[in-house]
Amino acid sequence: TKHLLGIKNLQKEDIAIILQTAGQFREVLQRPVKKVPSLRDVTIVNLFYENSTRTRISFELAEKRLSADTINFAASGSSVSKGETLLDTVNNILSMKVDMVVMRHSASGAPHFLAKHIPAAIVNAGDGINEHPTQALLDAFSIQQATGGLEGRKVAIIGDIMHSRVALSNIYLLKKMGAEVVVSGPPTLIPKYIEPALGVKVEYDLKKALAWCDVANVLRIQLERQNQVLFSSLREYNLTYGVKKSLLDSLNKEIVIMHPGPINRGVELDSDVADSGHSIILNQVENGVAVRMAVLYLLAGRN
Ligand code: CP
Repeated sequence: TKHLLGIKNLQKEDIAIILQTAGQFREVLQRPVKKVPSLRDVTIVNLFYENSTRTRISFELAEKRLSADTINFAASGSSVSKGETLLDTVNNILSMKVDMVVMRHSASGAPHFLAKHIPAAIVNAGDGINEHPTQALLDAFSIQQATGGLEGRKVAIIGDIMHSRVALSNIYLLKKMGAEVVVSGPPTLIPKYIEPALGVKVEYDLKKALAWCDVANVLRIQLERQNQVLFSSLREYNLTYGVKKSLLDSLNKEIVIMHPGPINRGVELDSDVADSGHSIILNQVENGVAVRMAVLYLLAGRN
């Protein structure tokens, strides 16, 4: 396949190959010279219509480690402000002999639209509330690294499920790979259809969800995507759904703590948990480079 638009249409075997290839690139990244010549004939544009720290830097580093030529496009500061369309913008960039597009956009489906209209390979780096496939892949890689595998692993996804492309991509991926998934959060932030549609259980009681799981993937409250008040206050959210050290201590078990970032410290996750020995948050970020190298390498047909 030419694009990576989401996890939804991937097969279990595709995911396994990406994770295995990422493992090989992780070895490369441990060497003094963290670079291979694989994509030296490929030019990639990182097209970011929405803000990003981790994903943007991680893709750029992955491309540089693969020896690709890279261009970084941010909508702010570009001619998008003069009314240029997405398609015109991309076609102008592609006319300068660019081969692949890594794209983040606040509109769900933007990379799928682009895939119908341009000849280049597209990697979805997050589209609205739809999918964030490379985040789910790096999360899976990190769970494997921390716990030994995905089959039968109990993963709780906690927080703003409704607005989270990370949640949706993680659910698709974890279910395909044989993990069990529970989502937990306030009823206003969990879509009603999620249990029958996606085969995940809903547990509104955070303590019960934590007591059940091996891994807790804590999500950011995405205030920028909420056009109505869905919980009373950040303080009350923290008291009811914030992952706290006292809560974890009361369980008498070890749970791996994940968060895709950026963290709202003291809202969905307290600092003494985010910065504890149980947290693999910075491992997730580290693994993102190897996983994105694997995705770009495989889409370029280099396997
Ligand atoms: N996890 C993630 O996508 O972070 P950024 O928005 O900073 O890229």
